[in-house]
This record gives sequence, structure tokens and C-alpha cells, in this order.
Amino acid sequence: MKISVIGCGYLGAVHAAAMAELGHDVVGIDVDAAKIAQLADGRPPFFEPGLPEILTSAMATGRLRFSTDIAEVRGSRVHFVAVGTPQRDGSNAADMTYVDAAIHSLLPHLSEGDIVVGKSTVPVGSAARLADVIAASGSGAVLAWNPEFLREGFAVLDTMTPDRLVYGVAAGDETAASILDEVYATAIASGTPVVVTDYATAELVKVAANAFLATKISFINAMAEIAEVTAADVTQLADAIGFDNRIGRRFLNAGVGFGGGCLPKDIRAFTARAEELGRGESVAFLKEVDNINLRRRQRVVDLTVAALGPVVNEKKVAVLGLAFKPHSDDVRDSPALDVAVQLRGLGADVVATDPQAIENSRARHPQLSYSASVEETLRGADAVVLVTEWPEFAEIDPVWAAGLVRTSVIIDGRNKLDAAAWRAAGWTYQGLGRP
Ligand code: UDX
Repeated sequence: MKISVIGCGYLGAVHAAAMAELGHDVVGIDVDAAKIAQLADGRPPFFEPGLPEILTSAMATGRLRFSTDIAEVRGSRVHFVAVGTPQRDGSNAADMTYVDAAIHSLLPHLSEGDIVVGKSTVPVGSAARLADVIAASGSGAVLAWNPEFLREGFAVLDTMTPDRLVYGVAAGDETAASILDEVYATAIASGTPVVVTDYATAELVKVAANAFLATKISFINAMAEIAEVTAADVTQLADAIGFDNRIGRRFLNAGVGFGGGCLPKDIRAFTARAEELGRGESVAFLKEVDNINLRRRQRVVDLTVAALGPVVNEKKVAVLGLAFKPHSDDVRDSPALDVAVQLRGLGADVVATDPQAIENSRARHPQLSYSASVEETLRGADAVVLVTEWPEFAEIDPVWAAGLVRTSVIIDGRNKLDAAAWRAAGWTYQGLGRP
């Protein structure tokens, strides 16, 4: 199948490479010439495990190329739109500028029988509007909406073998779903379920899934808040309720909360869209989900300040982690970076480390000090804060670390460390929602 992918950011670059890896003939298009040059050279402009390997292997077969010229989409049967929908400036709503621009740039190059497939996360109702735009162009192309559920750090795996495929198609459209079945034939053959539905349901599935995950995390973090005033242990509580199959243990890790390019922005955009639709009260709880999440960051800051004593100025805080989660260099809405910035704002001498996210953090917050070395980060620290649970941080030897710091206090913002081992090494250990 000949496929084009419009937008080669996180989602599009992974999608283009994965489609080529599955045997399709793919062109990836982006307006950013620097990004296209990097991708064409087999070097993704962001960290994602496994992506450089499939980029290189797919390009070697000649099935994958990248271009800034939208006319190169001609001849493709399927055109995936994978551009970003960031939070609009000064509002919680999604910014549809890039999606609208991508669709308009495609219009002159579409032919009868083509399908345009939206992958971006959009406010419900967008697909119906865009289908009208495509119909009015007279090309004979049709629109389908096929939301993407990939997780950063597992993006290649999630794209090649998704948990499910969702196709939103126009009423009476018989062909779009069968073309998408062909595109995803490998995943479908290995058992991936397919849900074929209308546009609005497909758009909602995506935001509902992210809203549910965010709610699950904030639920356990709310329990952590209660645990903190009752000397209960939220990690044991999560294990115990997680044994109930209806609840499940995944996404019940209490800590500094969720961040990244999706969950925070998607729950805010969903709330904004529901309010536009006159149904704000239906998802009003998502504001509380957001509030609980932000309170957890504050909790980590407060615990650190309390550990430092009455004078914060010139005390050294070692911050372990900057990315919003491990196996990523993404610092968008990162709880870890937020905590570091807040502590710096209070006057602490913050030194932060991360295996992948220092460069992205420095670009946003040059006022912070960074070190690539955990040893240098810990040396002389008056408090240590773990905020991204990279495996290399969980493996730090507490006895070795105690020999480096000035004061052996650690705030484990991800409940990831072996509390008993750290205490045995002389540390004052403080988790979140744990006695
Ligand atoms: C998420 C969705 O999982 C994915 O399906 C969607 O396509 C995009 O948004 P992602 O942003 O990559 O993916 O990260 P995810 O693994 O979901 O984690 C989100 C945040 O929640 C991270 O900051 C993580 O640290 C936090 N988290 C996750 C918790 O605090 N506790 C948990 O138990 C799980």
C-alpha cells in the first residue's frame, strides 16, 4: 500500500517508520526542513527506544522516504494526518491550526478513492467538519478517524502491535474500513481487535481513554493524600485493590503525578470541549483530577523545603529525573522539571540529572544547573529528590550515595526505592502516601 504521513513529529515519525517496517511504501511529510533532514539521515529528533533501528532498516529497503514537499503525497492511497494539537495559548482548548493546515495542504493532491486518515487527538466534532471540507473539494477522497494510543517509550511496539484499532468512518462508507484493514493486516492477523464506528465515537474513544487513565492516577494520588494523614501505606493499598480484576494494578502508582504531551492537555481540552457543548458538568470531575495531580507536585516541594530546614537559600538539592517518565526525553508538562523549577524559585541551589532529558530541560529552563553525572548531582546535597523513576536511579546504592551527600535525606516522589535499604544506610526516607 502507498501511504503518506503528514506531520513527522513524535506520532508521525513513529507511524511512518512502523508502516514502512510493515511492508508499505511510505513518504513522511513535514514543513520543518531540519526535522526532515534528520529523519532522512536515520536520526530521530527525539529519544524513542527502537525508532532509530526501524528508521534505518526501512530506509535501507527503499520503502521509506521523507520530504518537505506536500506534492509528494500524490500516488498514495492513504494519507495519515499526524500533526500536533497543542493547548491553545491562553485557553485549555486544543489548537486545531496544524490539523486544518494539513488538511488544506492535502486537498489539491487528493484523488478519487484516496482516504485521509486523522490520527491527531482532536475535539469531538472535528472529523465531521473536516469531512465536509474534503467533500467540498470535489476530489472524491473520503475521511476516516483512526486515533492513536501509543505510549512514549513504547511507541514502536504500540504502533506495530496496538491493543486495539478504532476506525471512525462516515455513515454508509464501506471502503475506508477495508482499506485500513489492509494497512493494519499484520496486527489484525495477530489478533488486534478492530472497532469500526462513527466519527464522534472514534474521537471520543481517544480522549475518554486518556481521561480514564488520568483519573486512575489521580484516584490513587487522592488515596495517598488520605494515607499521609492516617499513617497508612498507599502502595500496599494499591496492591490490595489491584488484585480485584475489575480494578487492576496498572496505573495505580502513586507519586508526583502525571505529565507529558498527552494526559494533562487532553483532559483540559476535553473539559473545554464539553463546556462548549453545554455539558461541562459531565466532566467537571476532570478539573479535580487535574487539581489532585498538581497538588502532588506541591507536596514534593513542601517535603523538600521541610527537609532543608528554615533556610532554603544556598542549600543544595539533588533532583533525580527531568523527563515526565522514564525511557523518554520529553519534558512537556513534566512533574519532575516543575518540581526542580519550583525549588529553584524558592532559592535552593538545584542540580538536576536525567539520562536523556537534560538538553530539552536546559532549552526551557537555562537557570537550572544540570549534570550528566549522578555522582556530581548527589555530591554535597542537603536533600535528594527522586522524581522520574529511571531504572538507573532505582539501582543507586544507598550506602555509596550516603558517602556523597551532606545530609542523608531522600524524598522518593515515585515510591520506587527500597525504603528499608535506604533507612538501613542511614537515610531519612520519605515516600508519597507512605508512613
Ligand atoms: C499516554 C497514554 O498512555 C497513551 O495511550 C496516549 O496515546 C498518550 O498518553 P504517555 O503520555 O506516553 O501515554 O505516558 P503514560 O505511560 O500514559 O504516562 C503518563 C504519565 O502518568 C507519566 O507522567 C507517568 O509518570 C504517570 N503515571 C503513570 C503515574 O504517575 N502513575 C501511574 O501509575 C502511571
